[in-house]
Amino acid sequence: MSDEITPLHSFDDASLDTAFTTLADEVRTETDSLSDPEAFRLHWLGRKQGRLKLISEAWLKSAPPEAKKALGIRFNQLKQQIEAALEAPTAVATKSAVHGIDITLPGTVRSPGIPHPLLSTMHEVVSVFHHLGYSTNLGPQVESDFYNFEALNFPPNHPARDTQDTLVIANQQSRPSRDRLLMRTHTSPVQIRTMIAQAPPVRIVIPGKVHRNDAADATHSPIFHQIEGLCVDTNITFSDLKGTLDHAMKALFGSDVKTRFFPSFFPFTEPSADVQISCIFCGGKGCRKCKHSGWIELLGCGMVDPAVFAAVTAERRKINPADDAYNSEKITGFAFGMGVERIAMMLHGVSDIGHFYSGDMRFLEQFA
Ligand code: DAH
Repeated sequence: MSDEITPLHSFDDASLDTAFTTLADEVRTETDSLSDPEAFRLHWLGRKQGRLKLISEAWLKSAPPEAKKALGIRFNQLKQQIEAALEAPTAVATKSAVHGIDITLPGTVRSPGIPHPLLSTMHEVVSVFHHLGYSTNLGPQVESDFYNFEALNFPPNHPARDTQDTLVIANQQSRPSRDRLLMRTHTSPVQIRTMIAQAPPVRIVIPGKVHRNDAADATHSPIFHQIEGLCVDTNITFSDLKGTLDHAMKALFGSDVKTRFFPSFFPFTEPSADVQISCIFCGGKGCRKCKHSGWIELLGCGMVDPAVFAAVTAERRKINPADDAYNSEKITGFAFGMGVERIAMMLHGVSDIGHFYSGDMRFLEQFA
């Protein structure tokens, strides 16, 4: 291959054919063993020193006007031949390598996203209740005093409010106390919202974020998650509550798990109970996790207090004065509430609640 462009002296078709056939042969010889497509490209198509550029300068410019068209056609055919050689698969593969991309290497594997462990725990719990015929409801995180406390039978200034470490919204003093806004401290207000909107039978689970003025430590966070449950119908009894929660705990933690119910207090249930499950770590023998008691406390529950039905009825009567759907002589119900973080920590053996909020991929990837 010669880099010199010999001047063309005659521009008749035969001379042009001869000149371009020589060039086409050169291109073919080079492309038959194309080891460096980039060098080949530069040699022929380089903007400054490429052979096509030199040819066009040497020949096109000196051609008589009547020969320019014939010359141009052959010139373009040659250019197409070169470009086609560069687009051929072997040239593409090597050309990519020259540009720093080796398309023969396996591609970058993007791992698909996964639900956050708290979300998947919520989903697991909720789906246990979906299988029992419950549906899901949600409510606002900025809530009024009425829904978060008053309708749930926490009277104003009642000491039970102190146990909730409420974060209040600023500058609410001018409002009537029932309308004052706060960050909901539990998911229970959605019980009230549901009953005001819907007559019995009610079977509902309510997952969501709640807020408390709590210092963060290994087991507490000022923002956490709860799942609330509510069942209202005719003839709902405490044994329905026990059977339902016993089934749910077995579905979540395994059929060997036992439950027991201890008397407790919540303003919105009467009687109220705390539910304990047999320790899933030691099978009830006693270990560090269950503080050697064999039992772990997991949720609160109880029969809906008639005062709650009365508050709901008062609201419903603002719309329909004859409403009697939540007459506690005719219907009863049970409710329960549990912390999602606590359940997720137990299910996955997580010892610090902070891991859930850290966004540390090394933690999160373990749930993939
Ligand atoms: N709301 C309670 C809390 O945040 C949990 C709870 C207890 C909910 C008993 C209930 C219940 O519905 O019946 O501590």
